Amino acid sequence: MAIKYSELVIEHFKNPHNVGTIDKPDASATEGSPACGDQLTVYLKVNSETQIIEDIKFQSYGCASNIATASIITDLAMGRNIEAAKQITWKQAADELGGLPPIKMHCSVLAVDALRSAIKNWEHKHLGKEIDDSLNKKNIVKELQKVIYGQVGVDIVSLKLLKYIGVDEKNNVLLELAIKKDDPFLDDVKNEINERMEKFPKIASVKISLV
Ligand code: FES
Repeated sequence: MAIKYSELVIEHFKNPHNVGTIDKPDASATEGSPACGDQLTVYLKVNSETQIIEDIKFQSYGCASNIATASIITDLAMGRNIEAAKQITWKQAADELGGLPPIKMHCSVLAVDALRSAIKNWEHKHLGKEIDDSLNKKNIVKELQKVIYGQVGVDIVSLKLLKYIGVDEKNNVLLELAIKKDDPFLDDVKNEINERMEKFPKIASVKISLV
């Protein structure tokens, strides 16, 4: 079945804003989507006194939805200070585009992920902020908020599909999901969780059980 896109998605896909690279950017980041394997790079020029994003560009190796959401989030971030730019969400990006098909929501997550990582890198380089990749519940939840349940296009945390998160003394992560074992989206969710957990250098293993 053909996927139906809003007119705005098609417009931003055909004529994306802020495409390209920045010569000597103040920071950049490339992120990949565990859901589909596509990639996006975001480049930033930030005024170090005002912390305002004075230029932002992106290069996408993703689909139409990803190009459209990268186009809209770079529009939203341009001229904002970094604190305000960090507040842009994938849901907001999708709403600004008149919605995305549920199965394509992860493309918007990729766009926001790349923007936030570029900002993190800027803060690390210019403000000396540590990049926090410690294995704790708070950081695990942050990663799991990016895992979309494709049937409805909402993340597994908001949908309350995550019933338990534990980290034992050997750094094994234990998760319980309220998804039926014959759910057609279960494998996608599990695979994406496993890939997202790879972000934590100290993790020993991930065990996912169903309740
Ligand atoms: Fe990969 Fe959209 S399908 S970014």
